[in-house]
Amino acid sequence: MTKQAKIAPSMLSCDFANLQAELVKVTNAGADYIHLDVMDGHFVPNITFGAPVVAAMRPHTKLPFDVHLMIDDPLKYVNDFADAGADIITFHIEAKSPVMKTISAIKARGIGAGLVIKPNTPVQSVFPYLSFIDMVLVMSVEPGFGGQSFMPQQLKKIEALQHAAKDGGHDLLIEIDGGINAQNAPLAIAAGADILVAGTAVFKAQNMEEAINALR
Ligand code: DX5
Ligand code: ZN
Repeated sequence: MTKQAKIAPSMLSCDFANLQAELVKVTNAGADYIHLDVMDGHFVPNITFGAPVVAAMRPHTKLPFDVHLMIDDPLKYVNDFADAGADIITFHIEAKSPVMKTISAIKARGIGAGLVIKPNTPVQSVFPYLSFIDMVLVMSVEPGFGGQSFMPQQLKKIEALQHAAKDGGHDLLIEIDGGINAQNAPLAIAAGADILVAGTAVFKAQNMEEAINALR
C-alpha cells in the first residue's frame, strides 16, 4: 500500500495580483504546506519575490511556509526569511554560502532546515549533512520556472535518500519539486517522497480541491 503524501502548492503559479485570495483558496482546498519559490536572477535566471512579500502573505493562512531559496547567498537572507514567517527554509547545495554555516543559521532560528539538489547534482552530495537537516528537496526540473516537464530519472535520488536516512537513523522529510502532476505523483510517492510540490497542477486546475486530492 502506498502512503499518503503531503501537498505543497507552489505560489509561483498563482495570481500574484491576488496573493491573499489565492492563499485562502489553496488553504481551503486542503493544502498541507505553502511552497514559496524565491529567485534572485543570479542563481536562476528568473526573479520572483523576497522576504517582504513572504511577510505580507503570512497572516492569510495558518499553513507552514516552506521557503525554497534559489539565490546565490542564502546565508545572507536566513534571518530575513525567518522574520518573515518561514517554517522551513531550504537552500541549494550548489549556492555560494557555506553549507554547514547556513544550516546552523537556520536551525538557530528554531525552524526547519533543508538542502536542495538540482537535477545534475549527485544525491550523495547531501549525505554528510543528513544528521543536521530536516528535509532534502529533490528537483525534478531545472530550477527557475514553473510549468516544465517532470524528469523521471530523479526518482532514484528519493530511493537513495530513503535508504541513507534509514541506515543513518535520520528523521528526514523528502520533498520533490518540478513538473508534478496526477500521473507522476504515484511514482514519486512510491519512490518515498513525503511532500510533493505542485504549481501548475494545483493553480491551473479547474477545481483546486480535486487537484490536490488527485495528487495525494
Ligand atoms: C521551480 C520551482 C517549483 C515550481 C513548480 O524552480 O522550484 O516550485 O514552481 O512548478 P510546477 O509544478 O509547475 O513545475
Ligand atoms: Zn520550488
